[in-house]
Amino acid sequence: MPASIAAPGVIIVGASGNLGPFIVQELLKQKAKFSRIAILSAPEKKGKFGTAAKNGIEIVLGSYKDAKSYQGAFMTFLIVVLKGFDVVISLAGNSIMVDQPEMIDAAIEAGITHFYPSEFGVDIGQPAYLQERYFQDKHLTRQHLRKKASVVPGFVFTEVIIGAFAETFVLSDVFGLDRQGRTFTYYGELDDIKSISSMEDTAKYTVDSILLPFETGKSERTLKVPNGNYTVRELIKVLCDLEGIQYKMHIFPVDDARKRQESARLAGSRDLELAFSLKSLFSGPFVVVPKPWQNDMFTFKPKNLVEMIQGCI
Ligand SMILES: NC(=O)c1ccc[n+]([C@@H]2O[C@H](COP(=O)([O-])OP(=O)(O)OC[C@H]3O[C@@H](n4cnc5c(N)ncnc54)[C@H](OP(=O)(O)O)[C@@H]3O)[C@@H](O)[C@H]2O)c1
Repeated sequence: MPASIAAPGVIIVGASGNLGPFIVQELLKQKAKFSRIAILSAPEKKGKFGTAAKNGIEIVLGSYKDAKSYQGAFMTFLIVVLKGFDVVISLAGNSIMVDQPEMIDAAIEAGITHFYPSEFGVDIGQPAYLQERYFQDKHLTRQHLRKKASVVPGFVFTEVIIGAFAETFVLSDVFGLDRQGRTFTYYGELDDIKSISSMEDTAKYTVDSILLPFETGKSERTLKVPNGNYTVRELIKVLCDLEGIQYKMHIFPVDDARKRQESARLAGSRDLELAFSLKSLFSGPFVVVPKPWQNDMFTFKPKNLVEMIQGCI
């Protein structure tokens, strides 16, 4: 790719989720570098994107499974403009992750040449993560992309790997933090190390990378760009120092989370099964993104831990 596409057109799927607004904001900051920036939205969700539309983002109404949604032809002053999109950034949430292969097929049919799958997490290629239920749909997506890239000339894809987001750690309870109840429940050891990232910086890496050419002959690229490695103890200490309060710690062996995951599976509770799967995945050594990292390919200075957590509270 894409060395030849001077100002690509970019369309985002899943723009209104947790990560989406950061990607939209960064694309807006770098608007001059792109021929078109659009959000693909289901018609019934159009209302969610009023502010983005006011800021100059195109809102394309349609299904992410339909090639027409990515074709990008539109009417202006009664002339049909045919310059379509080149790049799809998928920010699919868990419940639609399984649809990404169909999304990819539709995008390729429409002429998309560069696809960013909804990764933005740990390195799921590590042997310990190959069979994990939680990552099943991401693995299927990777396999599908590899298959397509091997047969569709000019089609490439980029995976962005960042570890865990500071925003998710602080602002949601998925990794065990309860800010209202001032408790932290963790399955593992407090000295476990994690790769932690800021959504704002991940958005910068992602958007900057669109214009970085692929190595000749390659159709797959993995960018490992976490902000840094920190222990769980450091995460909690920085949060306590910044908030001026203490959190009560509830620390359990990781096996307890696995047992609760299995009980939930047997009881048919998919959400609870995935929630405990995520808690056990957040334990242990594999949230650390294996080096080498590619941060040096980019010129901005990423946030440190204090800046990341400060930005969330
Ligand atoms: N490493 C980490 O700590 C971490 C944390 C959070 C997320 N992530 C990763 O970042 C990526 C994006 O996650 P996210 O948290 O931003 O996702 P999200 O908020 O759960 O969902 C993103 C978008 O997916 C679409 N979506 C979700 N459920 C849907 C449904 N039932 N029907 C139709 N559309 C649906 C929505 O699109 P519309 O906007 O079009 O409505 C939504 O805005 C994922 O790959 C996720 O695994 C990683």
